[in-house]
Amino acid sequence: MPTSNPDQITLLRPDDWHLHLRDAQAMAAVVGASAAQFARAIVMPNLRPPVTTLAQALAYRERILAALPEGSDFTPLMTLYLTDNTTAAEIRAAWESGMVQAVKLYPAGATTNSDAGVTDPRKVAAVLETMQALGMPLLVHGEVTDPEVDVFDREQVFIDRVMIPMRRDFPGLRIVFEHITTEEAAQYVRDAHEGVGATITAHHLLYNRNAIFTGGLRPHWYCLPVLKRERHRSALLQAATGGNPRFFLGTDSAPHARRLKEHAAGCAGCYTAPHALELYAAAFEMAGALDRLEGFASLHGPAFYRLPVNRGTVTLRREAWRIPDALPFPGDAIVPLAAGETIAWRLIG
Ligand code: NCD
Ligand code: ZN
Repeated sequence: MPTSNPDQITLLRPDDWHLHLRDAQAMAAVVGASAAQFARAIVMPNLRPPVTTLAQALAYRERILAALPEGSDFTPLMTLYLTDNTTAAEIRAAWESGMVQAVKLYPAGATTNSDAGVTDPRKVAAVLETMQALGMPLLVHGEVTDPEVDVFDREQVFIDRVMIPMRRDFPGLRIVFEHITTEEAAQYVRDAHEGVGATITAHHLLYNRNAIFTGGLRPHWYCLPVLKRERHRSALLQAATGGNPRFFLGTDSAPHARRLKEHAAGCAGCYTAPHALELYAAAFEMAGALDRLEGFASLHGPAFYRLPVNRGTVTLRREAWRIPDALPFPGDAIVPLAAGETIAWRLIG
């Protein structure tokens, strides 16, 4: 076990329970970074067009495996993108294939490539019924899209308008409240009836919304759900580091080309794959809880997904290094989160 202020920590190999790998050349540019950090990842299906069928998920999985650098030991765990037209039969076939671990619910219009998402949860009742019976997790982007609701309140309002009614209608449905960003969501997950988990990103543990505006408008800190006030960051850090198995690691690393981030209508998404564990280690150290990192990163996720814990370990060493200003990306570059800043931990293998 790590001591209170170690210079090196070793964890069972961790997993990323929420990751965007994109496709084609963009995927080839980023997949190696995740494979160097994680043994497995839940791969988000918000491609263009979205991954809505088992056949598409299997083909996407093959493309990911083909894009991995030589010698990688990385397993993509696939998801289907839920639409108003998804059938229960498709979901059942996906689950029975053993290759698709979950279904993703994007409220239509909530985030990047979510136009084909669900317009009203009542439209997918038959699918949710089937998932409940199968024990297949539903991964939820928990924000309402009602333009009347303030952008910073969309997660909180989602709990009342969607999460609570959905849990009432499908009490046995296993749900991951993805990338939670508020104290209210952390409390909801902590206190909910069993079967609910949540992923938390490194950036929501490390930054509050000031980061978006410090010294000017900084698009590389813009993601959805957007960073919130300090009281939320601090509640999330407490949730992540408190040892509660309902909370687990999901980077939501969401690569976008630099020109699309530094744009009049900049894309939402922070690119954290190359330094994800280092960022989480910095957050856990801030909370004096490095000894809880392994639970959050390597144990709680497999327990929720009913998958085995990974064999093997990774080691982080205390060693200051500078996050690169930019990394290669097709036709452009990609700017990692906190580019140019110094970080105290380094993954050494
Ligand atoms: C994600 C993306 O770019 O695909 N963006 C983000 O800001 N997190 C979509 C998502 O997870 O909301
Ligand atoms: Zn995401």
